[in-house]
Amino acid sequence: MALSAWLYVFILQGMVGASKSCFPECRCEVENFGLFHSFSLTKVDCSDVGSHVVPVSIPLDTSYLDLSSNKLKRVNESVLSGPGYTTLVNLNLSNNLLVKISSSTFSKLRYLESLDLSHNLLEVLPDQSFFYSPLAEIDLSYNNLLEVRMGAFTLKSQGKSMIVDLSHNSIGSVFRGADNPVPNIQSLILSGNNLISVPNLNGIPLRHLSLDRNPVAKIKKNDLSGLGGLTHLSLSDLPNLRDVDPYSFKDLTSLLVLDLSNNRNLIALSSEVFYGLDSLQELNLANSGVSNFPKETLRHLPSMKVISLGVNVNCVKSVKERPFHHEKGLVMKEVLLCRDENGSVSAQDVL
Ligand SMILES: *[C@@H]1O[C@H](CO)[C@@H](O)[C@H](O)[C@H]1NC(C)=O
Ligand SMILES: *[C@@H]1O[C@H](CO)[C@@H](O)[C@H](O)[C@H]1NC(C)=O
Ligand SMILES: *[C@@H]1O[C@H](CO)[C@@H](O)[C@H](O)[C@H]1NC(C)=O
Repeated sequence: MALSAWLYVFILQGMVGASKSCFPECRCEVENFGLFHSFSLTKVDCSDVGSHVVPVSIPLDTSYLDLSSNKLKRVNESVLSGPGYTTLVNLNLSNNLLVKISSSTFSKLRYLESLDLSHNLLEVLPDQSFFYSPLAEIDLSYNNLLEVRMGAFTLKSQGKSMIVDLSHNSIGSVFRGADNPVPNIQSLILSGNNLISVPNLNGIPLRHLSLDRNPVAKIKKNDLSGLGGLTHLSLSDLPNLRDVDPYSFKDLTSLLVLDLSNNRNLIALSSEVFYGLDSLQELNLANSGVSNFPKETLRHLPSMKVISLGVNVNCVKSVKERPFHHEKGLVMKEVLLCRDENGSVSAQDVL
């Protein structure tokens, strides 16, 4: 009897969760977790409804709110507040007509971890725009951003942006306050904007950074300093890129993947460009102006596995046995094996 009574209570709770009312024209999807599905999270999909959708009231256990494709021109903190918003984890505002945000727009979203603002019309990010939430992922691709300043992610204090390293304090970073200004952003997508140079993001614990399709003309030596945690860097489709300074990637000792593909005006790269990339496994130079990869470059790339070059040429590093001197017999030698678009394979020694 005791067990069936318990089951009854849990089943009843599950049913109450599932029949929760959803805002008109939105679609709510309840997912249950935990022992006897005692814990639920709701995904609220209000995409493609139209600009009259805001302000939208959401269930208290909403974890994901999709407001994409609604022709929204403006959102502010009164629209993004109220029950359910304080604990919202993911917000999708992509494919709208947002021209502007303010430093308080997202200030009530104290648990927001992922924010998609892609495909809007934003030109500037005011200081502290993203400071009030423990954001780990921000997608700002396909806006009209001319610059991205560090101040957008940090607390503005006496005219300077502050970064205090409290990375050991994981609870503190959730309840971010004036005394705990730690940006937590690990993924930042800035593709398809109007950036003419690499923004200074020194001190943000980024793992993924994309700057594809921006009018960046040059990667300068200190542009990527302080990004030692970066594992994926995408610098592809930069029509104006002609130059990468030697030692530009010197701090990127954790980088695994570097995408420099489709940079037609990037003709040459000195081998010192790759200095410091101790962990790099994949280098993409496909369809760039760089057609020959100087083999001495591989000295700087001890972990390299795959390099893509030119039109459909893929190279892998491999170890080959080959005759050396007659008297010494066979020795192991590293070679770069490249397969071109027609499938023919050529090998180059690696110095
Ligand atoms: C916030 O936006 C809503 C909807 O666009 C608008 O009605 C309201 O006046 C705005 N509130 C503030 C404080 O700007
Ligand atoms: C946000 O919505 C757009 C359009 O519906 C979709 O393509 C995108 O994947 C969504 N973003 C996230 C992070 O789910
Ligand atoms: C592949 O074959 C085509 C057609 O025969 C030829 O034009 C092209 O130059 C070849 N590509 C390479 C890299 O040899």
